Amino acid sequence: MPQSRLRVAIVGCGAIAELGHLPAARQVDEVALVGVVDSDRARAEALAARFRVPRAAASLAEVADATDAVILATPPHVRPALAAEAFAAGLHVLCEKPLANSSAECQEILRAAAGARRVLAVAHTYRFFPNRQRVQALLRQGALGRVRQVEVEEGTPTEWPTRTGYTFRRELVSGGVLLNLGIHSLDALFWWFGHPVEALYQDDAVGGLESNARIRLRFAEDVVATVRLSRTCRLANRIRVEGEAGALTLPVYDQLQLTEEWGSKAVTRKVAGGKSGVVRVVAAQLRDFAESIAARRPPAATGADGLRVVQFIEQCYAAKRARPLPARAPIPGVTW
Ligand SMILES: NC(=O)c1ccc[n+]([C@@H]2O[C@H](COP(=O)([O-])OP(=O)(O)OC[C@H]3O[C@@H](n4cnc5c(N)ncnc54)[C@H](O)[C@@H]3O)[C@@H](O)[C@H]2O)c1
Repeated sequence: MPQSRLRVAIVGCGAIAELGHLPAARQVDEVALVGVVDSDRARAEALAARFRVPRAAASLAEVADATDAVILATPPHVRPALAAEAFAAGLHVLCEKPLANSSAECQEILRAAAGARRVLAVAHTYRFFPNRQRVQALLRQGALGRVRQVEVEEGTPTEWPTRTGYTFRRELVSGGVLLNLGIHSLDALFWWFGHPVEALYQDDAVGGLESNARIRLRFAEDVVATVRLSRTCRLANRIRVEGEAGALTLPVYDQLQLTEEWGSKAVTRKVAGGKSGVVRVVAAQLRDFAESIAARRPPAATGADGLRVVQFIEQCYAAKRARPLPARAPIPGVTW
């Protein structure tokens, strides 16, 4: 193994580790995957055997000495403690989303990263979708002229095969569909248009975690975005950005397809070769993380990006709490 490869351990051997981080690490030459960690040691050992990872452990402390960086792929409630431990051991951290369950915890993680002078990257994976990157480039060039309207519709009945069921468990997460799914599209909108100047948030929770949510956002220069999210209904799963000079439409779950409309001409094409898939973008994310460490430059999604979106989501929940609950509970998925 060449000395220059970044020695990485994955902490949390659940669905995203198995379907994303483990297969992706094999494709990234800049990285050597040296260990997998899970509080369920048997699970770590099973994945280590299957993906031929040298070490399996039940705690980060067991692998830290032979590691340069960690991917924190646990549910969010344990991330502040794990991040603190990793930075104290001098490791760089790529943290799954949400960075943490609250903005206070995110700030704690950012302070630990700054104190240790280590890279903190956040898995805001949409930034690595080639069609999202093309939208970003066209917006930066001003190709659409003044952007008038953005629509995001993202929803399917939940089918992600978690081991812990964290996203439905109040003791592990601070929010439902907005925090778990909406975070990706919100981060993409903030990346494209900056921080919103106004937001109106609604969801279907009546004391529990929301499964459906709607947000109306206004950005600088009067760009208005509507976001509809669901984990109970199948929605259009489409993003549309309309400007005075053209419009862009992209499917939420396809990483490559983009329809560009210029005047009366609409062209749908793949913006990059290869296949759309989780491993592709998770590998791009890991490559960016390794390069950011080697080149001493910020990663594509920084700790500050992770904090910003959690802070925004927290404000949405606070605004919701300040309003009275409806007299009759909405039926999830029907009224939304
Ligand atoms: N970026 C993306 O597109 C994407 C996609 C899916 C999931 N995620 C995020 O990844 C995280 C994990 O999701 P998942 O679906 O893989 O969860 P999961 O429930 O399938 O797995 C979590 C694993 O973490 C382990 N774990 C819990 N506490 C631990 C600790 N203290 N130390 C070591 N291991 C511990 C559990 O035993 C379990 O194996 C979540 O925050 C989720 O939001 C991100």
